[in-house]
Amino acid sequence: MKLTTIIGARPQIIKASALSRAIRNNFSDKLEEVIIHTGQHYDQNMSEVFFTELDIPRPKYNLAVGSGKHGKQTALMTERLEEVFEAEQPDAVVVYGDTNSTLAAALAASKMLIPIVHIEAGLRSFNKSMPEEINRILCDHVSTLLFSPTQTGYDNLIREGFSKQLSPKATADHPNVYHCGDIMYDNTLFFEHRAENTCQKFSFCQPSYVLCTIHRNSNTDNSERMQSIFEAVAQLSRQRQIILPLHPRTKKMMPQMLSPNLMRELQDNPNINIIEPVSFLEMIYLEKHSSLILTDSGGVQKEAYFLKRPSVILRSETEWQEIVQQGRAFVCDADKDLICQKAEAFLGEPPADYPPLFGNGRAGDFICQTILDTL
Ligand code: UD1
Ligand code: UDP
Repeated sequence: MKLTTIIGARPQIIKASALSRAIRNNFSDKLEEVIIHTGQHYDQNMSEVFFTELDIPRPKYNLAVGSGKHGKQTALMTERLEEVFEAEQPDAVVVYGDTNSTLAAALAASKMLIPIVHIEAGLRSFNKSMPEEINRILCDHVSTLLFSPTQTGYDNLIREGFSKQLSPKATADHPNVYHCGDIMYDNTLFFEHRAENTCQKFSFCQPSYVLCTIHRNSNTDNSERMQSIFEAVAQLSRQRQIILPLHPRTKKMMPQMLSPNLMRELQDNPNINIIEPVSFLEMIYLEKHSSLILTDSGGVQKEAYFLKRPSVILRSETEWQEIVQQGRAFVCDADKDLICQKAEAFLGEPPADYPPLFGNGRAGDFICQTILDTL
């Protein structure tokens, strides 16, 4: 059976490594995978670095779509994907998550009657001002196999009308929905020990540093929110070193959105280390050795939990309800005082429990077997 896997943004490239590994190790006689990179992310440290580091097969196609407004970017991807699907004639198209690359592939494949396998299905923020919420809802509703990493995601799908009944042969009109665990958890377990080899690079990190990532458009494109979040970062830096691998979107927007005084303070403050985006192994290392993580990233919230670190979520809601319910993350929005208050509370508390919530580290195998059994 031939699968075409669509990747484009950083987290999708990382996620693809889990499925490719499962195919290579356990399904290579039955599943052929052709990887298509839309080119949504293209900087060396947002794309290429992951292929070499995580043993991901080289994409057969790079559609070189690059950055742009939503409509144009999605349209270009859809047009080029359609051509590739025509050439490749895949038996199924695998998509990850909720980016514009996900939506474009779902549009192209569904109109060509190619079954869609959506990995990370069912997640909802219930906030349609988030482009990802639109992408994930639309993709879920044209998919044939939907794999949710969490019980909450599975329940969302059932509430939206998907049937719990599993068909022996799934189709777009009779899709199958599974709660199968998280392939990102597969990856963290697999790469956690290898990540320790990157420690040399981080000799400048002081014990108990706080790791921070910011890239969500609701933050980067809103001056008030950006200012408030970075004021919180500056305040926390009086007690702890801050390490902030900077997403290119945020790098571009900071000078436009932050006051000149705050920009200067961030640049001159020796306790705030703003660095280039790091590789996945480096990120796992940084997460694991931090004392707290401030983030608006979906993936980083979860990895914080996998690696038993508390997180402060710089958004007004989260799709990853389970980690909040466990008390290991707190939704602080862009509220400077709340961010500082919750950060200090987490930093002051004794070690806590992180019960497993994201499967057994073999979601990739389950997905491959289910594709073979039901498509
Ligand atoms: C995208 C996804 C988001 C995901 C994130 C992961 C959508 C709508 N958003 O957001 O869900 O969380 O990726 O990181 O698909 N840029 C570069 N170099 C790059 C890539 C981007 O400089 O290699 C800059 C460009 O200025 C670009 C901006 O970042 O305009 C935003 O990139 P884009 O892919 O549109 O959205 P992200 O914010 O990265
Ligand atoms: N990540 C990385 N380097 C960085 C920042 C993040 O490798 O400098 C990884 C992180 O470990 C996680 C993924 O990128 O696996 C999350 O991607 P991102 O935050 O860009 O997007 P989101 O998950 O919010 O869609």
